[in-house]
Amino acid sequence: MAHIPENIFPIHDRSLSREDRERLLEQKGLCLWFTGLSGSGKSTIALELEKSLYNSGWKSMLLDGDNVRTGLNNNLGFSQEDRKENIRRIAEVNHLMIEAGLIVLNSFVSPTEEIRSLAREIVGEKNFKEVFVNTPLEICEARDVKGLYKKARAGEIKNFTGIDSPFETPEKPFLDLKTEHKTPQECVEEILNALKL
Ligand code: ADX
Repeated sequence: MAHIPENIFPIHDRSLSREDRERLLEQKGLCLWFTGLSGSGKSTIALELEKSLYNSGWKSMLLDGDNVRTGLNNNLGFSQEDRKENIRRIAEVNHLMIEAGLIVLNSFVSPTEEIRSLAREIVGEKNFKEVFVNTPLEICEARDVKGLYKKARAGEIKNFTGIDSPFETPEKPFLDLKTEHKTPQECVEEILNALKL
């Protein structure tokens, strides 16, 4: 049971339920959680997937690390504690959006089992589909789209995931998406097949 602060009285018997909203939207709320190293392709794949879902009439929303960190989470850094708070807030946002009947696409490094378990717990097991964007570190580093690996190797960024901060391989993802020899579109097809959409 979630912690409820003192003197706060959440509404329980809403006149409109999640089911009502889902009926209106003609879909079920869902959280797709992309986890993987920086530069693994999470956001590229999530963007492609979002377009594909849109074209088929699904109502979705994309949340991405670099975007959320400029607004809602712009007071957080990359210590383990801040990463956990980053993911906790995002998971709570997912919880709300799922109640509204949306399919939420999430692109966050979310590097540890502890952090991902927290997200799963907040979002709810049955709503949570974890997609491991499985791209080897050597490839992410060779691509270095944002130039951050170079900076991390030079010691200009501390606690960089995969360099001096851990990335724990997801234990039981809904989908282990090996991207190395696939185009983003092929990755999207694989996700849609796994979701049976
Ligand atoms: S998370 O670890 O808290 O889940 P999040 O997905 O929000 O990370 O943000 C990751 C993005 O922030 C990376 O894609 C990268 O562009 C940027 N970034 C900046 N510093 C770091 C760092 N120390 N470790 C990982 N990513 C970083």
